[in-house]
Amino acid sequence: MTRQGRFITLEGIEGAGKTTQIEDVCAYLAEQGHTVVRTREPGGAPLAERIRALLLDPAATGMAEDTELLLMFAARAEHLARTIRPALAEGAWVVCDRFTDATYAYQGGGRGLAAARIAALEELVQGPLRPDLTLLFDVPVTVGLARAERRSAVDRFEAETIDFFDRVRAAYLARAAAEPGRIRRVDAGGDPGSVAAAVRAILADFGARQPG
Ligand SMILES: Nc1ncnc2c1ncn2[C@@H]1O[C@H](COP(=O)(O)OP(=O)(O)OP(=O)(O)O)[C@@H](O)[C@H]1O
Ligand SMILES: [Mg+2]
Repeated sequence: MTRQGRFITLEGIEGAGKTTQIEDVCAYLAEQGHTVVRTREPGGAPLAERIRALLLDPAATGMAEDTELLLMFAARAEHLARTIRPALAEGAWVVCDRFTDATYAYQGGGRGLAAARIAALEELVQGPLRPDLTLLFDVPVTVGLARAERRSAVDRFEAETIDFFDRVRAAYLARAAAEPGRIRRVDAGGDPGSVAAAVRAILADFGARQPG
């Protein structure tokens, strides 16, 4: 049996730089000789990508908060079954742009859903599976939103208020404080090169702590 791989997630508010930095994370891990599977949430498997389209559609106004939460976990169940678990079982390092910390931050912090409800679904859908390492790209909300604004069309979350994103960021930081071993905060306010260097240092430290 091949050795179980590692599961690394990237988190942070809109415009923090997750999608920019994931390229370098994957390149670094490949340089270290790992098989790398790059994926994202919501999505990462064909049916899950269809659920993503529902979740991000700006025309889906007034979606009930529980609907949003359940769609997130429905997409996650599909993603785990089709993509993440098979890759980990083959020994790959799975690098995922957002995962369940985003649910705690957006549906919990942002929308105000109780963490216990999210935790119940996390247990149902994931069992004991959690990321081995989470990189939290942290920027002030105004900086992240200004960056994100320079991109194309606004999705259903990007249309939210500054207050919403302040709550999302605070929820992320609270999770990082509660789980400092797994969640590593990265100051993502600098230029992309300096952020990438900080991330490589964290990955080297993480790798050094892993057997083999
Ligand atoms: N360190 C940086 N400094 C300045 N601009 C950056 C930096 N990192 C990324 N950007 C730019 O900011 C924008 C948002 O970055 P990116 O798409 O990587 O954010 P994201 O965290 O993936 O956001 P989202 O959650 O909305 O997907 C992009 O146009 C990107 O080129
Ligand atoms: Mg992105």
